[in-house]
Amino acid sequence: MTAYSPPRGERWPGRVDLMDVAPRDGLQNEPEPVATADKLALIQGLLDAGLRRIEVTSFVSPKAVPQLADAAELAAALPRDSGAAFFALVPNDRGYERALECGLRHVALVMSVTETMNRRNIRMSVAESVETARRMIARAKGDGVIVRVYVSVAFVCPFEGAVDPERVFALTGEFLAMGADEACLTDAIGRANPAQVAHVFRMLADRHGTERLAAHFHNTYGMALANTVAALDQGIFRFDASVGGLGGCPFSPGATGNTPTEDLVYLLHELGIETGVSLEKLCDVTERVRGFSGRIPPAAYYRATRLKARSA
Ligand code: COA
Ligand code: ZN
Repeated sequence: MTAYSPPRGERWPGRVDLMDVAPRDGLQNEPEPVATADKLALIQGLLDAGLRRIEVTSFVSPKAVPQLADAAELAAALPRDSGAAFFALVPNDRGYERALECGLRHVALVMSVTETMNRRNIRMSVAESVETARRMIARAKGDGVIVRVYVSVAFVCPFEGAVDPERVFALTGEFLAMGADEACLTDAIGRANPAQVAHVFRMLADRHGTERLAAHFHNTYGMALANTVAALDQGIFRFDASVGGLGGCPFSPGATGNTPTEDLVYLLHELGIETGVSLEKLCDVTERVRGFSGRIPPAAYYRATRLKARSA
């Protein structure tokens, strides 16, 4: 590894692009199904708050994720003129076809770096996922569809432990070479630490630049914002988050919510980085999430501002 550590802030972007994944990553983990109308109101709230990239649902087996069984109905009712990119997670060709039939133009193909996790999640070997990506990216080029690839379990696997970064470099490089619009490295169980994150993104940024890289952290061990800063240090400027901190992964034991969007926006604004997102409007969305989830969402910014205001 080359010894390279940039002075603090040197590579920080002036603006960060956020993708709110609450409607998919958050709601797939809710114990009770959420009504389609509530999901649409959540998405509208995110649009009103300034989010321009939203992962709205997934086209997976309704037996595997019953919470998102209304994907087609939801997609049909999305606002057409918002100018936002609505992504849908897809695991296979069938998912890709369903997403397109429903009028979506942005798909996020999910695969995991480790064999055990990939099999448990989507019942494919890593090699099969690579071939699926190759087919899907080629089709998407013809269809004019944007493809992000989730390089999931990129740091620690709940079944196989620490992930060899060389596997992450090889797979990410392969997806980018195939023409993927974006490779999003995912810490689905929230076990990554900032040293690992810095190392992995430094190597990837040096090889591929940062234009097509993204990061997706979970806050299971409270590391999500620390990991975000480690990735920012390497010039990464696309991050996933979930409003209120909703989320988890039903296929990763112990995983809890994503980086809460309001905590991430607060951090970025404190650092002088633009997001185009209104913190106040985000907290209004979290208020709504609290209404249908029946729990106080974990987002620190929401708790510090809205709960304090309530108890004052
Ligand atoms: N959308 C809807 N249904 C699908 C589908 C898709 N993209 N792909 C497969 N199916 C259906 C099949 O039609 C079949 O239905 P049936 O039982 O009624 O006949 C069933 O799912 C099984 O199909 P098969 O091809 O044998 O898939 P599998 O059992 O190997 O499961 C997945 C593979 C990917 C469909 C399934 O594991 C899945 O949906 N996983 C969800 C993963 C996920 O969302 N994880 C969280 C995000 S990280
Ligand atoms: Zn996730």
